Amino acid sequence: MGNTGTIRSQSVRSDTTAAPRKHVMRTTLEKQVRKRTARLSEVNELLKKEIAERRQMEADLQDSHERLRYLSMHLQKIREDERTSLSRELHDEFGQSLTGMKLDVSWIKRRLTGNDGPIIERLDSILEALDRTIDTVQHMSARLRPVILDDFGLRDAAELAARDLKKRANISCNVISDPYNISLNDMVSTEAFRILQESLTNVMRHSRATEVTIILRKKKDILAMEIRDNGKGITKKELADPRSFGLTGMQERAHMLGGTLSIMGIRGKGTTVALNVPLRRANAQGKEE
Ligand SMILES: Nc1ncnc2c1ncn2[C@@H]1O[C@H](COP(=O)(O)OP(=O)(O)OP(=O)(O)O)[C@@H](O)[C@H]1O
Ligand SMILES: [Mg+2]
Repeated sequence: MGNTGTIRSQSVRSDTTAAPRKHVMRTTLEKQVRKRTARLSEVNELLKKEIAERRQMEADLQDSHERLRYLSMHLQKIREDERTSLSRELHDEFGQSLTGMKLDVSWIKRRLTGNDGPIIERLDSILEALDRTIDTVQHMSARLRPVILDDFGLRDAAELAARDLKKRANISCNVISDPYNISLNDMVSTEAFRILQESLTNVMRHSRATEVTIILRKKKDILAMEIRDNGKGITKKELADPRSFGLTGMQERAHMLGGTLSIMGIRGKGTTVALNVPLRRANAQGKEE
């Protein structure tokens, strides 16, 4: 019993000292919490500032990205206009005066007799040189911008490019078009043709292909163009290389049309370049210009 009493009196004593200690502890704790909270809100403010700065940086980056895109579009357009006028000048001025010269030389040749052998030989070599020059002028003019693109459209221009590939690199090239005639606005046919031209130049320079198929399809409001070769196949590294300016240019052109471009290579099997353009959007973009 006595033992119990002693214990009770001790517990009462400890209760009386515990209350102020608890109070002290709570105040210290509260102080610590306040300090922590203050620190946390400082860190929070810093974070908010950092996030705001980063957002601003992202917006600036996006802005400069857009500006670069517009600049690239603008430069492409200037280049295209220059090419068109150069091509016309070459075709109309040079082409016609060279053809005129050829007719004159032939006219002179017809008036010569059997005794003018050496002169006839000279005239023949002039005629040959004129033929070669006319060929070169036509080729240069077509590379700058095929008149056929404006007069007949993408399918005929693709046929012409296919024949050129066969002639220059001995790579057989087949054009499939569904429907047979695809009508497109000027902007879409120009950009699609430039993508085709770059793809075929790449086939000629890098692929070691023997066959190429160009597929053109217009279904509902989508233009799809595919260029498939049976060469060595473009690698992932080449696709990701930022110095692949030809490929970047193709991507930019597709983007300008509001479309997409995918390039895929399978080792030893070949490369496929696929362009898809939603024509309603591309038409609207063309009108904005
Ligand atoms: N059809 C293809 N088959 C195999 N490799 C290809 C093909 N097309 C492109 N490549 C590879 O991708 C690379 C990048 O092509 P890209 O057109 O960007 O540059 P390029 O043709 O070398 O130079 P350019 O700037 O004159 O076009 C090429 O150097 C080539 O190695
Ligand atoms: Mg290239």
